[in-house]
Amino acid sequence: MLAGRHVVLAVSGGVAAFKAAYLARRLLEAGAEVRAVMTHSSQNFLGAQSMAAITGIEPISDLFHQADVSPHTSLARWADVIVVAPATAATMARMANGLSEDIVSATVLAATCPVVVAPAMHTEMWEHPATQRNVETLRADGYVIVGPTSGALAGGDVGEGRMVEPEDIVTAISGALGDRSMAGWRVVVSAGGTREAIDPVRYIGNRSSGKMGNAVAIAAADAGAAVTLVTTVAAPKHPSIEVIEVESAQEMADAVWKTAAGADVAVLAAAVADFRPADPAVGKLRRAEGPPQVNLEPTPDILAGVSAMEDRPYLVGFAAEVGSVDAAVAKATRKGLDLLVANDVARPGSGFGTETNEVTIVTPGGDTEAWELLSKAEVGRRLIAEIAKRRNEAGRT
Ligand SMILES: Cc1cc2nc3c(=O)[nH]c(=O)nc-3n(C[C@H](O)[C@H](O)[C@H](O)COP(=O)(O)O)c2cc1C
Repeated sequence: MLAGRHVVLAVSGGVAAFKAAYLARRLLEAGAEVRAVMTHSSQNFLGAQSMAAITGIEPISDLFHQADVSPHTSLARWADVIVVAPATAATMARMANGLSEDIVSATVLAATCPVVVAPAMHTEMWEHPATQRNVETLRADGYVIVGPTSGALAGGDVGEGRMVEPEDIVTAISGALGDRSMAGWRVVVSAGGTREAIDPVRYIGNRSSGKMGNAVAIAAADAGAAVTLVTTVAAPKHPSIEVIEVESAQEMADAVWKTAAGADVAVLAAAVADFRPADPAVGKLRRAEGPPQVNLEPTPDILAGVSAMEDRPYLVGFAAEVGSVDAAVAKATRKGLDLLVANDVARPGSGFGTETNEVTIVTPGGDTEAWELLSKAEVGRRLIAEIAKRRNEAGRT
């Protein structure tokens, strides 16, 4: 995974800087090419000479007076990934605010590659609202934050704020580099449950939380896709996810049909009502008027609409079943899907609102593959990898 990859190791001024030397060694052992940048403060904790001896290249600690006139942009372009380890409170504050007065923050600001951040500081600094705000901002900007953990800190203190071990940082770097299988693809994802108005305040809905669709959207975006997420629920913040908020099946159909035309992949994970009130009341229904007669009519079939498109995307549907997933196998064929993800929502840990899911992947040919109980995030990642593989094998470009 790391062999031949370009890693910029950015070191800022915390006691954990000495571990950056070990991290550099681990990265080199894994086959990566490593170039280090070091803040001035960091050199109170780790000598530039030590880093040079390990990486074989003098680290850069000044923006100016370098052989390269613009070291931050050169390094940012060279990097497949940047890792800031340790990341001090001060360096994270600069990164969160787009400041760029030193080599580390300028290189990060100039980068378009994934950035992994390993915070390290005393507990009070970590827990300070300013630091927590900055971490949230960095997360929202798509940075991968790894740690901190709890344990021994400098000066004999113990608590939260200790940098995670270099091995864990290497794992996070591999993860951030991992899957770029959808780079350049346009992917449409639907999430959440639709709401069909009975009157202006009441609706027919379902129990979908949108967690599975959100996980798929994040995994696709992490894999390099430009994602359009059509959703009825709160959407994740990710620089590569564009959100279209909808409520009813009709609104969802309109948004999906508009964006799926010409897309590479559509993963329709939303739980869409099959029927809606034919004539929703204009005014609020009153108890005194007695139970209303609610006549239902079918909603648009979103999957069928996408499947019938001339330039249709690789189409993946979801089916929530109760009991066996046999009906899902029939649905995969009937709806003209490329892949169907079936789950038995009655099983413990599977289905609506849970953090985990146990799914079966169904092909139109009737092949099934049952996955073990996994976190929804992991189901999302595996599914995206599977879709990328199958679409490539199918020879679609
Ligand atoms: C002995 C000592 C240890 C420090 N350890 C940390 C630390 O672990 N984390 C941190 O955020 N700041 C730490 N600081 C404060 C930073 O060094 C200081 O905020 C510095 O300006 C950070 O600059 P930089 O982010 O440009 O490297 C420490 C300071 C001293 C004197």
